Amino acid sequence: MSSVIDTLHAKRAAARLGGGQARIDKQHARGKLTARERLDVLLDPGSFEEWDMFVEHDCHDFGMDSQRIPGDGVVTGSGTVDGRQVLVFSQDFTVYGGSLSAAHARKICKVMDAAMKLGVPVIGLNDSGGARIQEGVASLAGYADVFQRNVLASGVVPQLSMVMGPCAGGAVYSPAMTDFIGMVKNTSYMFVTGPEVVKTVTHEEVTQEELGGAHTHNSVSGVADFAFDNDIDALLQLRKLIGFLPANNREKAPTRPCSDPSDRPEPSLNTLVPANPNQPYDIKDLIHAVVDAGDFFEVQAEYAKNIVIGFARFEGAPVGIVANQPTVLAGCLDINSSKKAARFVRFCDAFNIPLVTLVDVPGFLPGTSQEYGGIIKHGAKLLYAFAEATVPKITLITRKAYGGAYDVMASKHLRGDLNYSWPSAEIAVMGAKGAVEIIFRQDKDDPDAIAAREAEYKDKFANPFVAASLGFIDEVIQPENTRRRICNGLRSLANKQLDNPWKKHGNIPL
Ligand code: HXC
Repeated sequence: MSSVIDTLHAKRAAARLGGGQARIDKQHARGKLTARERLDVLLDPGSFEEWDMFVEHDCHDFGMDSQRIPGDGVVTGSGTVDGRQVLVFSQDFTVYGGSLSAAHARKICKVMDAAMKLGVPVIGLNDSGGARIQEGVASLAGYADVFQRNVLASGVVPQLSMVMGPCAGGAVYSPAMTDFIGMVKNTSYMFVTGPEVVKTVTHEEVTQEELGGAHTHNSVSGVADFAFDNDIDALLQLRKLIGFLPANNREKAPTRPCSDPSDRPEPSLNTLVPANPNQPYDIKDLIHAVVDAGDFFEVQAEYAKNIVIGFARFEGAPVGIVANQPTVLAGCLDINSSKKAARFVRFCDAFNIPLVTLVDVPGFLPGTSQEYGGIIKHGAKLLYAFAEATVPKITLITRKAYGGAYDVMASKHLRGDLNYSWPSAEIAVMGAKGAVEIIFRQDKDDPDAIAAREAEYKDKFANPFVAASLGFIDEVIQPENTRRRICNGLRSLANKQLDNPWKKHGNIPL
């Protein structure tokens, strides 16, 4: 018996060595952890149960017969994060550059199938040179098998990707179909075609980092949701993200004990909105002031900063926050902010996470670049997402809520459950100046008349009381009581039941 156990130990030791010590040293020299070291950081100590450690590729071409490494470049299995089960795959760059063979793909697919069956999140740590070149179309088929599962799992279990090395070619489309993508600064990149192909086709000279590094995808393309300083930071933050999410679409997100009183007044909010309506203020001050212990986990912090999205908790229960940001483009909605927020709203709705929407929006950004870029279709994404969402929806208008953007931002008319405003709210079709220029055009050469008309329009609409008198605002609340109102509201909505009509699926304006 002892000899077979010794054999097992020896085989395991060989598998754990992946592509060998020299390649592990190379990985470390680049500031990267190995696939297994990453799982050690991500998962609770001792919780990892590995699967398919001895799987090998089945390629016979290009001398691959004599090159077989157990595990075939991806470490897969089950573990826990804060005691909750997750399924994982972690690509091992030391084995054929983490490239995806048919066997490697089968291992990932096994994890994804199990995640669906068990109703638990699936987490991918990507570090791969793409399709295993020696295997040709077999590896392309393997990718497609993964893609198909990404689509079937979408909205069923959370899928999280951490890109921690190269991710090129069609390989980027698996992370792209997952719910969130994190990247590690300076060591990860994603692109459909690399710098060499770009140079050949378009004559552009661009580095890997410029083309598809963490900065590019977090602040320019909006493909990624997070940029982290290094592997450890990335994996610890990933643990934090998982803590906000339910295991699947039939469960609620996990609550945790909360020592922050739900009725905590926050007098600083009474003076947050400046007297001058054109003066900005930072909406994150409001977010930090009202959520549990000021803890806000921002998503896409560097992209379309005119809207802020992220997770927080009230009384220990996770919510998704969507908030216009007056400090950037006056908080207006444009193409990028609409897409950013729409996807987040749909994620929260798919996974039973209530939405808290904070509104200070002067409207949609005007201009040819927006119209030519399709703001109509992209703005409609956010409208569609809020209208479709059936999770508890609490909306607070702090200041401006003008025009179509008022409707879009989780208004009463889009089945907002509790729509509050501060007394400083201005809810109207447009600002007084613009309105008067249109409806009193005949007075345009009479500055006194124009000023009087503007004052009249402001008096009538630069407040929340017309909307409140129509029942579109449920209550005008004191800013200092905002946390109490939101906590009470979320508690009262905890058992909300609302279903959309049966359909195969809607046709969101993509
Ligand atoms: C097989 C690969 C590989 C691949 C890397 N390796 N990529 N083996 N298939 N795709 C191997 C290398 O031979 C090397 O083996 C080891 O991994 C490390 O690679 P290096 O080149 O030494 O590392 P580095 O200098 O860091 O460069 C990493 C890299 C580069 C930028 C990823 O290896 C590279 O460009 N690889 C090819 C990328 C690519 O074109 N992939 C196909 C994309 S198309 P040894 O034995 O020396 O350690 C695609 C289609 C998917 O993926 C379509 C889905 C629909």
